[in-house]
Amino acid sequence: MTSRKIIAVIGATGAQGGGLVRAILNDQNSDFMARAITRDVNSDNARALAKLGAEVVAADIDDPESLKKAFEGAYGAYCVTFFWAHASPEKEVAEARAMAGAAKHAGLKHVIWSTLEDTRRWVPLDDQRMPTLMGKYKVPHFDGKGEANQVFTDLAVPVTFLLTSFYWDNLIHFGMGPKRGPDGKLAITFPMGDKKLPGMAAEDIGKCAYGIFKKGSEYIGKTVGITGEHLTGEEMAAALGEALGEEVRYNMVEPEVYRGFGFPGADDLGNMFQFKRDFERYFCGARDIDTSRELNPELQSFTTWLSANKQRIPLE
Ligand SMILES: NC(=O)c1ccc[n+]([C@@H]2O[C@H](COP(=O)([O-])OP(=O)(O)OC[C@H]3O[C@@H](n4cnc5c(N)ncnc54)[C@H](OP(=O)(O)O)[C@@H]3O)[C@@H](O)[C@H]2O)c1
Repeated sequence: MTSRKIIAVIGATGAQGGGLVRAILNDQNSDFMARAITRDVNSDNARALAKLGAEVVAADIDDPESLKKAFEGAYGAYCVTFFWAHASPEKEVAEARAMAGAAKHAGLKHVIWSTLEDTRRWVPLDDQRMPTLMGKYKVPHFDGKGEANQVFTDLAVPVTFLLTSFYWDNLIHFGMGPKRGPDGKLAITFPMGDKKLPGMAAEDIGKCAYGIFKKGSEYIGKTVGITGEHLTGEEMAAALGEALGEEVRYNMVEPEVYRGFGFPGADDLGNMFQFKRDFERYFCGARDIDTSRELNPELQSFTTWLSANKQRIPLE
């Protein structure tokens, strides 16, 4: 028997949840134990987590009953949705409702909800600065998450609202790495003007979440924003150039150009970057580096992240 408190982790085989599971398992003296939630307990990733010492449990965030079972007996839960799996904010809200309901049902003492801003609070739908998408959103993959905050509040779930930042891992996995122009030179392309983009190693999100759980009740009912560093496109390009040993330029485009790039989600991401650009003061202010480092003393800077990951960035 263990007296350690169980944290049920949604998305345990993915970036955010995986970081939290590893943070718990790597701490020999942890008061917590990790319950890794996955749709497939037999996948290689799930088996790898079991081998590391996690309890692995099957559930699907689209199946509320499976969530109730998966949260039973736990102290806390890490809740995250997977927008790009379906691209539906309505579905994200329904998934958040299922997670909040399961948390309530299980009587959890602390839930971390991985959220983002409902940008419509800053840019109402009739604001012409950026197009309205899907009929009622400005940044669909942000707005649904922000809207879903209310679901946790309405059910009186003891929740911490965790505002995450742009993953630097997007340079590896999301096609946002440097590309060669017609002149053969590498460039990164963002519609951020000269404004700063809060970014972080995806792995550090879970480590910060672990720091929040370790603080007990301190962050319950609060919103906390996390980031590794706030960097302009120029600063990111310079750090990339240094790490890769080859000049990298910052290709500053307008948001409407970015929205027109034509890849799935380009309009959503164009609006997202425009929101971060136009509301830089708020957006950076809501994501504090010192707080993030206090929660996770191993917090990586962009340069540290690059030195460990530069070989993984695909270059043509
Ligand atoms: N990319 C960024 O810069 C960024 C920044 C901030 C926030 N976000 C947000 O982060 C979220 C994604 O988190 P992530 O990056 O940690 O995800 P991820 O790495 O893509 O991980 C996805 C994992 O979640 C599990 N999963 C997917 N659908 C599920 C379902 N229906 N029920 C249960 N588990 C499911 C899968 O596990 P199994 O296959 O094992 O079930 C998968 O391994 C998105 O909503 C995105 O908007 C992204």
